Amino acid sequence: MTELEHCYNIFDLREVAQRRLPKGIFEYVDKGTEDGISLEENRAAFQRLKLHTRFLNDWSKRDLGTEIFGQRINLPFGIAPTGSAGLMWYQGEVELARAAAAAGIPVTLAMGALTSLEEVTKAVPDARKWFQLYPWEDEAGNYEMVTRARDLGWEALVVTIDHAPGRGREHNERNGFSFPFKPNMTAAVDMATHPGWLWRVMRKYLMNEGMPTNANYPDRYRFSVIDGKTRVSPKRFQAMTWEHIRKFREFWPRKLIVKSILSADQARAAVDAGADGIVVSNHGGRAFDSAIATIDVLPEVVEAVGDRCTVILDSGIRRGSDIVKALALGAKMVLVGRATLYGTACGGQAGAARAIKILSDEMERSFGYIGARSVAEIGPHIFARNNPAQ
Ligand code: LAC
Repeated sequence: MTELEHCYNIFDLREVAQRRLPKGIFEYVDKGTEDGISLEENRAAFQRLKLHTRFLNDWSKRDLGTEIFGQRINLPFGIAPTGSAGLMWYQGEVELARAAAAAGIPVTLAMGALTSLEEVTKAVPDARKWFQLYPWEDEAGNYEMVTRARDLGWEALVVTIDHAPGRGREHNERNGFSFPFKPNMTAAVDMATHPGWLWRVMRKYLMNEGMPTNANYPDRYRFSVIDGKTRVSPKRFQAMTWEHIRKFREFWPRKLIVKSILSADQARAAVDAGADGIVVSNHGGRAFDSAIATIDVLPEVVEAVGDRCTVILDSGIRRGSDIVKALALGAKMVLVGRATLYGTACGGQAGAARAIKILSDEMERSFGYIGARSVAEIGPHIFARNNPAQ
């Protein structure tokens, strides 16, 4: 049995990832922000919700798939944008995209990824591919990237809107972790004490394409992960307003998704600006530590815009039952970030596939307990007593 086969849930994958990755990289992925309250609350909020069991409901024929933007996906979840799959494994973004494609679920490539839109297109031509953007003040730079995604035929543009204030991630400072890596003593010792990672990941980059960079950035911003000083840093777009979302709407010919929605008002504003979809997201507890858990705010968001756009949820999904709860409160699908990153760190495509399979098996079992045979049969009636939609 390989180590992967001994990972029976997402937390096992996390543990293996923790052993394998340099501390700075692991904590960058794993931790939240400031006191980690939002991160914990995401889990606690799912755990507070209890479901009714309903047995003897002929569960023998069942389908976990659903339709998103008029097309079928095999499971009601997709891969969230995360910039670091390429640090989990050599060409991790490609490995992760292949696992998603094989499972028949959409994959979102983060603009900060180490693999380019073009490479991912080549690796998974048939996958449903979404591209995530953090708008910079340099609008020409934003549109250079968005144009590439458009011309490659990507299905959706996901605009994350929580970026302007920056992040309070003290652990990154402590660990000397930054991207590009600053060649400081703490980070150097961390890497040197993880020779397995250096061998499996860094060595391969160095032997093949050289030091990884933010492969999607325009050249003037494209740092090497080590030599961060040679290029200028793009500025976060602090003056951004909904007008800029309208501009993306005019430019982008396919599905536009606005991510980081945590209230009915913001959801309405996104739809009014032309969004086809929204992601109810507190960035996996990685942005504002006083943010509400997404599952707690989902009912009012669905009430406000559920009939006008596709509501997606992320942040805190670690068990299949979490997905079921989100569907029951009106999300059409969820996105998973850390779960498949831990998997990727444990075994590239096979590890990501393992994470997808774990979530899918757990979800299927939950379907069985609540007596549901399809996503369409899941609704607020599945909650026991504390129906949060009431
Ligand atoms: C993060 C940003 C890059 O969460 O999305 O690290």
